[in-house]
Amino acid sequence: MKSDTLLEVRKLSKRFGGIVALNSVDVEIREGELVGIVGPNGAGKTTLINCITGIYKPEAGKVVFLGEDITGKAPHEIALRGIARTWQKVRPFLNMSVIDAVTTGALLKTNEPAKARREAMEILEFIGFPRSKFETLGKNITLIEHKLVDLARALATKPKLLLLDEVVAGLRPSEIDVITEVVKKVNKEMKITLGVVEHVMRFVMSVSDRVIVLHEGMLLAEGSPSEIAYNPSVIEAYLGTKPI
Ligand SMILES: Nc1ncnc2c1ncn2[C@@H]1O[C@H](COP(=O)(O)OP(=O)(O)O)[C@@H](O)[C@H]1O
Ligand SMILES: [Mg+2]
Repeated sequence: MKSDTLLEVRKLSKRFGGIVALNSVDVEIREGELVGIVGPNGAGKTTLINCITGIYKPEAGKVVFLGEDITGKAPHEIALRGIARTWQKVRPFLNMSVIDAVTTGALLKTNEPAKARREAMEILEFIGFPRSKFETLGKNITLIEHKLVDLARALATKPKLLLLDEVVAGLRPSEIDVITEVVKKVNKEMKITLGVVEHVMRFVMSVSDRVIVLHEGMLLAEGSPSEIAYNPSVIEAYLGTKPI
């Protein structure tokens, strides 16, 4: 393990009945990096996030974060150590306000409600969420606003590593541009290491320093965005699904 390694996933395997969702996957994320994790639907991307964050326990392999083996620990213990994630399926917080939803994230690291609320406000401002909507209830905000609130809630837990699961899915091109800027800003200005999981490549290619490709639960390729875009086995894996 190199000295700047933040996360090390070694030979991680996870199955669901007869389906092998992850098959001996190796992934390394270094401090400060913005790593894209791509692959066709069903490749195992969400399962990888779920195994790293303790939602699922892998059958084999390990997850090492900051030199500590965190394999199989409970989600809140992993969150406390500094790994946060967002969810592919937006989890609506219908009757909670935006500010309260983000405050729940900040309460992971402080038990002072006023401090948590202040931190939540700062993060919402940092990502450019409109102040006029801080008190709006979840049921009255749009999809991109939901995605931003989920991102802000994750940031409020003060992570060292943030894993985003299909954060631009379902958004229009102009909205994807907004998320692109926010993600870059989180990485560059907050200096948070990011793992950006995406099915659609365009967004990943524009934000990532390095890209990892999963296919049928296995690591298919790894390289710079341009190496990946022209990699024949990656192109083949995507053929018959959706264009890159
Ligand atoms: N909770 C689960 N129960 C059963 N099968 C699952 C579960 N989660 C994922 N899978 C299966 O594991 C494989 C990988 O899924 P997933 O990690 O969601 O892929 P991706 O996020 O890359 O689209 C798929 O075949 C999926 O159907
Ligand atoms: Mg997924």
